[in-house]
Amino acid sequence: MILVSKLCGKISPLSLKDYKENGGFEALEKALFKMKTEQIIDEVRASNLKGRGGAAFPTGLKLQFVASEKSDIKYIICNADEGEPGTFKDKILLDGCPFQIIEGMIISALAVGASYGYIYIRGEYPQTKDLLKKAVNILKEEGFLGKNILGTDLCFDIEVRTGAGAYVCGEETALIESIEGNDGRSRFKPPYTANKGLWGKPTLVNNVETLINIPYIISLGSEEYKKFGTKSSSGTKLLSISGCVANKGVYEIEFGMTIREIINEICGGVETDKEIKFVQLGGSSGAVLPAEMLDIKIDFDELNKLGIGLGSGAMFVGDESICILDFVKTTMEFFKHESCGKCTPCREGNRHINKILNRIIEGKGSNRDLELLVDICELMKDTSLCGLGQSAPTALLTTMKYFEEEYKEHIEGFCRAGICNLKKGAVVYG
Ligand SMILES: Cc1cc2nc3c(=O)[nH]c(=O)nc-3n(C[C@H](O)[C@H](O)[C@H](O)COP(=O)(O)O)c2cc1C
Ligand code: SF4
Repeated sequence: MILVSKLCGKISPLSLKDYKENGGFEALEKALFKMKTEQIIDEVRASNLKGRGGAAFPTGLKLQFVASEKSDIKYIICNADEGEPGTFKDKILLDGCPFQIIEGMIISALAVGASYGYIYIRGEYPQTKDLLKKAVNILKEEGFLGKNILGTDLCFDIEVRTGAGAYVCGEETALIESIEGNDGRSRFKPPYTANKGLWGKPTLVNNVETLINIPYIISLGSEEYKKFGTKSSSGTKLLSISGCVANKGVYEIEFGMTIREIINEICGGVETDKEIKFVQLGGSSGAVLPAEMLDIKIDFDELNKLGIGLGSGAMFVGDESICILDFVKTTMEFFKHESCGKCTPCREGNRHINKILNRIIEGKGSNRDLELLVDICELMKDTSLCGLGQSAPTALLTTMKYFEEEYKEHIEGFCRAGICNLKKGAVVYG
C-alpha cells in the first residue's frame, strides 16, 4: 500500500506545477481557509498518527502541547538527521517530494502558531540538502513561505541546516544544541522541547515521515486516513530493509504486516542458500529477534507487548553465515564511538561493554563476564541521560536472551559461524 511516498519518483521534485497537479497544497488551502487551528490539531489527534522518528509519540498531542504554550516566537524543526545505521527511508521522501514535507511543516506551523522552521539534515546528504534549499526558495518566491502566506496572516519561514555527522544530533535536544551553535550533546529533560526548546522557546520537533503524513490527514480527514493500518497504528510505515534479502531498499507498508510477509512477499525472500538467523528491527538500537519470531506484526501495540520498538524503521535480515557476537560487536563499537560523553553510564558503560565483548570473542571470557554485561546494560538503560545510552544495550541484551548458546560457545572456544578466531563449531547443551 503506497500513501505518503506515492509521488516520489512520479513527479519532478522541484516542479511546483507537478506537485499542484497531484493535489499539492490542497491540504494547506483547506487548513488555511476552511479550518480553525483547533480543528487541525483535533484532526491530527483523531488520526492517531504516531511519530515516525523512533519514540512513536502521538503527533496530535505534541501539536497541542506546543499550541498551548504562550510565547512571542515558536519554532518547528523537521528532523532529517537520519543517522541510525541501516536507516535511509527519510532520504527517499526528501529527494522525492520535498514540497510535501514542507507543506506538512506549514500546516503544523499554522496549528501551533510557529513563525520559523528549520530542516536539520545530516551532512552526509549534500545533494539532498541542495535540493531542499532550492525547494524552500521556490516556495518563498511563490508565496507559500514568508510573510502573509497565500494572502493570509500566516507568516512562516524555513532555513535548512546540516549536521556534522554525529548520530546523537538526531536526538532532539542535541539537535537543538547543534542548531544553536553548541556541541551536539543532549540536554536534561524536563524541560521538554515543546515547552523550552530552541533558544528556550516552545519548539515542535518532528520526523520527516511524520510531517509528510500531515497533508494526507488534512486532505483525507482522520476517519478516511485511519482506514489504513491497524487500530493502534494508523497509516503506513516506510521501512529501510537491508541484509540477506533479495530485494533490499525502502518500502512503504501498511501497518499489520508480519516480518515474514515483508521478507517473502515484498523483499523476494532470502538471496542466499542459507536460512534466516535473525532480524534486527529499528536499526542499531533495535532488538535482535530470532527466526522463530518472524510472525510478529509491524504494529506499535503488538511490538510494545513484547517490549520491542519499531525505532527508525530499519530492518536488517541476517542469515546463518553471521556470528551473532561479531554482529553485536560492530553495533557496540558504533555506540562507543557515538556516545557524546556527557553522562557516565553511557560513556563508561559502552567502553566496558566493548572490552568484555572482545574478551569473549577472543575465547578469554567467563560466565562472570556474561553477568557483568547484563549488569552494565541494565544500569545504562536505567541511568543514561538520553535515548542513545538507554537504547545502546538493546542489541546486546536481546542477543544474550535469544542466542545465549552462542555466547557460551565463545566462552568455551567455539564460533559456529567460523568468523571469530576460534574453533569452528557448535556445542550441544543439555
Ligand atoms: C540517539 C538518537 C538519535 C535519533 N535520531 C533521530 C533521527 O535521525 N531522526 C528522527 O526523526 N528522530 C531521531 N531521534 C528521535 C528524536 O529525538 C525525536 O524523538 C523525534 O525527532 C521526534 O519526532 P516524531 O515525534 O515525529 O517521531 C533520535 C533519538 C535518539 C535518542
Ligand atoms: S546517554 Fe550517551 S549520548 Fe546521551 S548524553 Fe549520555 S553520554 Fe551523551
